[in-house]
Amino acid sequence: MPASPLQVAVPSSKPRILVVDDVTRNLQIVGAMLRNSGYEVMPTTSGAQALERVRVQPPDLILLDLMMPVMDGLEVCHRLKGDASTNPIPVIFLTASNEMEHLVKGFEAGAVDYVTKPFNGAELLARVRTHVELKLARERLREMNDEKNEFMGIAAHDLRNPLSAIKGYSEMVVEEARELPHRGIEENGLRIRDAATRMAEMVRNLLDANRIERGEMKLNLAPTNLALLLSSVVETHRERATAKQQVLLMEIEPSSATALVDPTVMVQVLENLISNAVKYSPSGKSIFVRLTRLPEAVRFEVRDEGPGLSQDDQKKLFGKFARLSAKPTGGEHATGLGLSIVKKMVEAMGGQVRCESEPGRGALFLVEFPATSI
Ligand SMILES: Nc1ncnc2c1ncn2[C@@H]1O[C@H](COP(=O)(O)OP(=O)(O)OP(=O)(O)O)[C@@H](O)[C@H]1O
Ligand SMILES: [Mg+2]
Repeated sequence: MPASPLQVAVPSSKPRILVVDDVTRNLQIVGAMLRNSGYEVMPTTSGAQALERVRVQPPDLILLDLMMPVMDGLEVCHRLKGDASTNPIPVIFLTASNEMEHLVKGFEAGAVDYVTKPFNGAELLARVRTHVELKLARERLREMNDEKNEFMGIAAHDLRNPLSAIKGYSEMVVEEARELPHRGIEENGLRIRDAATRMAEMVRNLLDANRIERGEMKLNLAPTNLALLLSSVVETHRERATAKQQVLLMEIEPSSATALVDPTVMVQVLENLISNAVKYSPSGKSIFVRLTRLPEAVRFEVRDEGPGLSQDDQKKLFGKFARLSAKPTGGEHATGLGLSIVKKMVEAMGGQVRCESEPGRGALFLVEFPATSI
C-alpha cells in the first residue's frame, strides 16, 4: 500500500526529547526508557538550562518536571509558549501524584499532557509517541500547505501573461471583424474575450487569496473619498444589472465621508459585494447600495432581494471556496473565493464586514470603517 503523505511513523532521524528534572535519578530512569525506544535524549537539570538548550537544539518534545527549585516547570512552560520559535514544541509535565492541583495551571500554561511519578513506562512511552507523531504530522501539514500555496501562486502568476495576450488578440479580432459581413466572427471574438476576462478574474482572486494567506498583502492606506469610489464601482456594474433586468440603486449620505483605506483594495471589496448581489439575484429585482455615516464610522450597505442565506450558509459564507445554496442566476461563474478575500481585506484595513439575512428575504452585507476627517 502506498504511504500516505501524512505518515510520520518512521522519521528520517531519531525524534529528540528534552527531559527536564532536578532529580538526577528521574533523568536516568526516563532517559533509559526513551533511549531504548529509539529516541535521542537531552537530559537537563534546571529550567534555565532547559531554555538555553531548546534554543541551541530544538527538540521534538519536552518532558518537564512541574516542581523544580529556582524556576519551576510552569514558568519554563510559560516562557516556551510565549516565544514563537519554541511555542510549537509540545510539553508534557512530569508530576508527583500529590501535585495534581497544579495540573490545571500546567494546561493553562500550554502543556499538552502529563505523566505522574513514579513512572509507568508503557504509559509514558505511549504519551510521548502520540505527541511526537502529532507534532511531526503538524509540521508535515504546514510544509505541504506552504508547497501548495507556492504551487498555486506560481501557476496563477504564470497564467496571467498568456491570458492577457488572449484578451488583447480577441479584442483585435472583434475590431477587425466589425468590417466583415459575417457577424459570427465578431460574436465569437467577444465570447473569447469574455471567457479570458473571467479567467483573469479567477486568477486574480487565487493570487490575492494566496498573498493574503502568506501574509504578503501590501496596503497603501490613504484618506479616501468613499462616495466617489462607490459611485464608480456602481457604474461599472450597471450594464450587467440592466442585462439581467435588475435595478441598481445608490444612495450616498453624506458625500464627504472619508476613511483611511487602500483605494484599489476597497474597489475590489465593493466589486465583490455588488457583483454577488447581481449574480445571485433573479431578474426583475432591485439592489440597494448605500453609504452612510455613523457617529464613529462609515458604513457601506449592499442589500438585495435575492434568495438570502440560511443560518448554516451564513456560518460558511466568509470561508474559502464557499459555494453555498444560492447559485448564479445568469450563468456567471462562482469560485467561492470572493467573500473570503473581502473579509481579509476589510479586516487588514481595520474594518469589519458582516451579513444579515433570512432565507427567501434577500441579503444585506455591511462593511464598516472608522471614519476620518480631512
Ligand atoms: N448576495 C448573496 N445572496 C445569496 N447568496 C450569496 C450572496 N453572496 C454570496 N452568496 C453565496 O455565498 C457563496 C460565496 O460567495 P463568494 O463571493 O465568496 O464566492 P462566489 O461568488 O461563489 O465566487 P467568486 O470567487 O467569483 O466571488 C456563493 O457561492 C453564494 O452561494
Ligand atoms: Mg462572489
